[in-house]
Amino acid sequence: MPSPAAPPPPVVTPFTGQFGLAYPIICAPMFLVSSASLVIRAGNAGGMGAFPALNYRPLERIREAIRQIREESAAPFAINIIMQKSNRDRYRHLELALEEEIPLIITSLGHPGEAIRLAHQGKCRVYCDVVGLDHARKVADLGADGLVAVSYGAGGHAGTLTPFALIPLLARHFPLPVVAAGGIVDGAGLAAALCLGASAAYMGTRFIASCEAEVTSTYKAAVVAAGCHDIVNTDRVDGYPGNFIRTPALDALGLEPSLVERILSGSRTARRSLARIRATRVLFGAGSSRATYKTVFSAGQCAGLIDDIPSVQQIIEETIRHYHAIKGTLP
Ligand SMILES: Cc1cc2nc3c(=O)[nH]c(=O)nc-3n(C[C@H](O)[C@H](O)[C@H](O)COP(=O)(O)O)c2cc1C
Repeated sequence: MPSPAAPPPPVVTPFTGQFGLAYPIICAPMFLVSSASLVIRAGNAGGMGAFPALNYRPLERIREAIRQIREESAAPFAINIIMQKSNRDRYRHLELALEEEIPLIITSLGHPGEAIRLAHQGKCRVYCDVVGLDHARKVADLGADGLVAVSYGAGGHAGTLTPFALIPLLARHFPLPVVAAGGIVDGAGLAAALCLGASAAYMGTRFIASCEAEVTSTYKAAVVAAGCHDIVNTDRVDGYPGNFIRTPALDALGLEPSLVERILSGSRTARRSLARIRATRVLFGAGSSRATYKTVFSAGQCAGLIDDIPSVQQIIEETIRHYHAIKGTLP
């Protein structure tokens, strides 16, 4: 029997140094997608796994997931906490992450001040999702340990800037590790992100189409089938601009704003209230929401570059091999 191929050589960056990892790849936290098994597989393949606290309810299930991760992997991992009011459990998530001494807390949406303050009393580091310079300045001033640069075209709630502007902008202004988020599926994307000044790459959509992702085969097939132009940016699902695969279920939402919404959109307060109501319905399945992350499929524009469903280990090792090969051939 042929012996399994040796893992590719490590890629050393400030991010891998901070966490003692072989490779600067984070299997990005994805609502209803990132399970303990994805985290375990990513960590055991030399990257870092991350999961949203909201994927496990009630709270005791988060502890069970953490126990499982620690039993099956020695690698550091991350928990993602939504710090916005729509997540009524945000402080309990924080408390649990600190009690469990999870190496990395990643905050998204809302104010990360309390997360950073409390984490720094213990052993956890906090990275914060950001979409621009002002946003990054606020979290850097609060003491964030790293920035996740969420760019246009990313899966989930995307930013508005191209990664070619956002990553160097953040790398120039802040002496913090920057994680590039959005559009990365292979070694070319990783190489580009590192050239632009990132210390690591989030890969989200790529891991939805993996053997171990615990999503339906319909979702995986939709990612494989989607072209880049099939990704629609809309706030119709939960009130925040996010990227979704164009399907009949998404079209059924009516992608154009209604008359009432057009009138209310003149008022910032009304806009925020609408967004909050939608987010609460989607995150907690309350009310009679027509769409949730279960009925429509979120994915980034890079879905158009994905045409297979390999294992998590294959994705990470192929990405790193491709990265090393590309590095040696740049003109
Ligand atoms: C289905 C899905 C769910 C997501 N849920 C979350 C989430 O709960 N919290 C979060 O911070 N980011 C979330 N994201 C964003 C990812 O963490 C990451 O930023 C994004 O997938 C990177 O872009 P890519 O998909 O092009 O690789 C989600 C993305 C997807 C595709």
